[in-house]
Amino acid sequence: MLVCYTKHELRQALTELRVNGSVGLVPTMGYLHEGHMALVARARAENKVVAVSIFVNPTQFGANEDLSTYPRDSERDLQILRDAGVDVVFTPTAGEVYLLDADTHVETGYLSRVLIGRIRPKHFRGVATVVTKLFNIFQPDRAYFGCKDYQQLTVINKMVADLDIPVEVIGIPTVREADGLALSSRNVRLTSKNRAAAPVLCQSLDRAEVLVAGGGATVHSVKKEILDLLAGMPSGVVESVDIRDAGTLAPMRGRIASAAVVLLAVRFESVLLIDQRVVTPSNNR
Ligand code: PAJ
Repeated sequence: MLVCYTKHELRQALTELRVNGSVGLVPTMGYLHEGHMALVARARAENKVVAVSIFVNPTQFGANEDLSTYPRDSERDLQILRDAGVDVVFTPTAGEVYLLDADTHVETGYLSRVLIGRIRPKHFRGVATVVTKLFNIFQPDRAYFGCKDYQQLTVINKMVADLDIPVEVIGIPTVREADGLALSSRNVRLTSKNRAAAPVLCQSLDRAEVLVAGGGATVHSVKKEILDLLAGMPSGVVESVDIRDAGTLAPMRGRIASAAVVLLAVRFESVLLIDQRVVTPSNNR
């Protein structure tokens, strides 16, 4: 496995590797877990060359967010990627990625302003910009993202379509702990009390799925059930419960008659946990 620290090294490595066939890219911020590795496994199955980036991107963190405390373990990450048969890893510094006088950004409009965008105003601009840069640096054939970060995946799909970026974006289902908690690098920062409470996010989504599948559920009735379940949490503050059109993230009203995405954000002290589920009415009863 090649480990590259500069864009120049990476471009040179990929020029040689690319002759073997398609390149699959998995962008990450490191502190790897089984969720990331599901993306890597899929990239390994579908491409001749698998490339991973590890970069805690400062521009997607707000001033009061967890950039400085974001967990890191570079040695362990590299060993995990080596064991998974990854071909090349890019692990740059912020100074390597961004020019000091950078003055260009990529930003989706509506999709960046709603939902998590309301809580984290510059977040999706930072994500869209760094992912565009990674696409330009790696020039991958395919890129892999988790459905766990559903709004992020929607932003990236839209940006790729709007800007004619020549990459196939592939969404991978969320990997969970046995009790349903979605794997996240931030989970290690949950206190034991909060860790015990956290599976309620997944349980609320299970409930929403059942309600919607049964037919006749309304946005209001599903939201109310979720809020009731979340109200029983021994800790945690509900930041948002949203039910939106699964494709456009536009708000839905009334009866849920087409694919919807239920998006939850709950804060456990300094840790913001998010989870989502696409729910579909099985019939139009
Ligand atoms: P990070 O949080 O490290 O996640 C990297 C990728 O792993 C994302 O596509 C994310 O959706 C996916 N992922 C995380 N947890 C997952 C889980 N439990 N199951 C399946 N996939 C999971 O998301 C980012 O980094 C950054 O915003 C990035 C896209 C790298 C841009 O900086």
